[in-house]
Amino acid sequence: MLTAHAITKTFGANAAVDGVSFTVQRGTITGLIGPNGAGKTTLFNCLAGALKPTSGRLEFEGSRIDGLSPDRIFRRGLARTFQIPRPFPEMTVLENVMLAPVGQAGERFWANWLTPAGVAAQERVLVEKARHWIDFVGLSHLAPEPARVLSGGQRKLLELARVLMADPRLILLDEPGAGVNPALLDTIVARIEALNAQGITFLIIEHNMDLVMSLCRPILVMAQGRLLLTGTAEEVQADPRVVEAYLGGAPV
Ligand SMILES: Nc1ncnc2c1ncn2[C@@H]1O[C@H](COP(=O)(O)OP(=O)(O)OP(=O)(O)O)[C@@H](O)[C@H]1O
Ligand SMILES: [Mg+2]
Repeated sequence: MLTAHAITKTFGANAAVDGVSFTVQRGTITGLIGPNGAGKTTLFNCLAGALKPTSGRLEFEGSRIDGLSPDRIFRRGLARTFQIPRPFPEMTVLENVMLAPVGQAGERFWANWLTPAGVAAQERVLVEKARHWIDFVGLSHLAPEPARVLSGGQRKLLELARVLMADPRLILLDEPGAGVNPALLDTIVARIEALNAQGITFLIIEHNMDLVMSLCRPILVMAQGRLLLTGTAEEVQADPRVVEAYLGGAPV
């Protein structure tokens, strides 16, 4: 579904991502782990179009996506959430979800022909859809509240609802479990599993090893910008290179 060929991203003399090649198979929940500073988020930024790779090639469902804008990649069905979600604090949860950039080109094109009633109907469809996903992530009771009242975990769920507006086929999650209390973490895991059962593929960066080991197969391990290995939870846990990478880097 997604193929990365020798992706490199340098910042000055520092190669944050250094010749990384891998594939994500459709239908999987693929994990991406590695110590702090390994280059995981930088790789996500390249995949989602926020950063242009210095070199290398990215293919999503058979088409090149490296160099496309984040919006174009999002509209093609590849969505990402942020390590630190930043919703618009004074807008409501519902408004934040409705802001997802879906179908805007179409709206601009049709706007001149649509009657006010048509625009209102379109708006109602958007509200319905936003409410559906807000309900799905368990935030219905907070839909009319400003996003600033949300906890860290609830912000992660808001992000998930927001990207689901685009009907993505592949979702990149950057640390969905970070700073999330255990009860909410169970909700997040259950929602990922439900979406995966509906056919959505995931690539997940996560430091919570219980979450990774139970949810992800296969698991990619990065260290110092490079892909160290790919394997099942058992293979990764048993590999001395992984232990070494974590001991050599900052603590998890
Ligand atoms: N915009 C940037 N400019 C310069 N250096 C950067 C930039 N973004 C990341 N880096 C550097 O690239 C390296 C990889 O960072 P990255 O955030 O991708 O790591 P990570 O694996 O996501 O770490 P963490 O687990 O802490 O989130 C680090 O050395 C970081 O300082
Ligand atoms: Mg990161």
